[in-house]
Amino acid sequence: MPRNPATPLTARRAGFQRALRAWYRREARPLPWRASPSLYKTVVSEFMLQQTQVKTVLPYFARWLEALPDFAALAAAPEGQVLKLWEGLGYYSRARNLHRLAQAVAAMPAPPRTPEDWRELPGVGPYTAAAITSIAFGAPAAVVDGNVVRILARLTADGRTFRDGSTAAREFAALAQALLPADNPGDHNQAMMELGATVCVRQNPRCPACPVAGFCAARQSGAPEKFPRLAPKESVTLAVTRVWCVHAGRLLLHRTDEAARRLATMHELPTPGHLGLSEAQATAGELIARRHRSITKYRITESIYRGTHDAAKLRAGLVWVPLAELERITLSGPHRRWVGEIAVRKEDFRAASRGLS
Ligand code: ADE
Repeated sequence: MPRNPATPLTARRAGFQRALRAWYRREARPLPWRASPSLYKTVVSEFMLQQTQVKTVLPYFARWLEALPDFAALAAAPEGQVLKLWEGLGYYSRARNLHRLAQAVAAMPAPPRTPEDWRELPGVGPYTAAAITSIAFGAPAAVVDGNVVRILARLTADGRTFRDGSTAAREFAALAQALLPADNPGDHNQAMMELGATVCVRQNPRCPACPVAGFCAARQSGAPEKFPRLAPKESVTLAVTRVWCVHAGRLLLHRTDEAARRLATMHELPTPGHLGLSEAQATAGELIARRHRSITKYRITESIYRGTHDAAKLRAGLVWVPLAELERITLSGPHRRWVGEIAVRKEDFRAASRGLS
């Protein structure tokens, strides 16, 4: 078999496909959406995996399938239940889109089968459409995400600097498509994902374990980590003030605008604006916690100040939630963590359990 990396990869694609597929059959992790696959499991797993690693997704996937086993069950579920099952996974628009998608699919005589038709559904971009239709229907559509970009940039030692991940994905789409086999494109796509997640990783790639190292120009160059080159990410720093008000064993929370309108239940610690306070008024109180988090390009510092309950006339969207009932409502992951930490520290829970609520 020719192993000269100067020969274009596409000219050696049959050997590449064989080596990758044999490795995948041997080494694929036994993931629950791969055992007895179904369209529904494929769709749910692809939505959960959009911005989240496999090991984080696993317990969520199991709970989800238990509670909502098919499109009909998901379509009929109240939005509050859907968000509660998603709580902690983040990027909640994925859950709302998945819910709407299930309602659309449940209303159709049969689910669509082509990537173009799937892209008409909420929350489905080119990657997800290709993943779902290749895995569930054998559609000849190559997936290109960050993992696949990394593999292809290394295979070809492509030294261009890409503005961002989606530009790079567009640039590599034709090569990804050219490498896709006609038979079982779903397994090929999953093999590429698996290789990117377990072998061709960003730092310290495991080249000696790679089934396609013989096809890889970056490996020959001796510096695979140099590829791909992406322009440094722009990041935006934000500061947010939150107010911690506990009275009679209840915590004051704000229901997000969208959730309030749609009667779902996403909650967060209120900002001064939610309470009708100025920043100066809110930050005059005791600073009880400062926390950092990142979401997409935003680096957010949240400063939580103690407020008093009479500072909060009950404006639209504000609710008093008994501390003992916090488990029942949906809070974003970081807020759930902070509320737990602060409430325990402040002994508010003990006050609640002495019967003040
Ligand atoms: N990431 C996105 N889709 C995936 C899948 N089907 N298996 C493993 N990782 C993935």
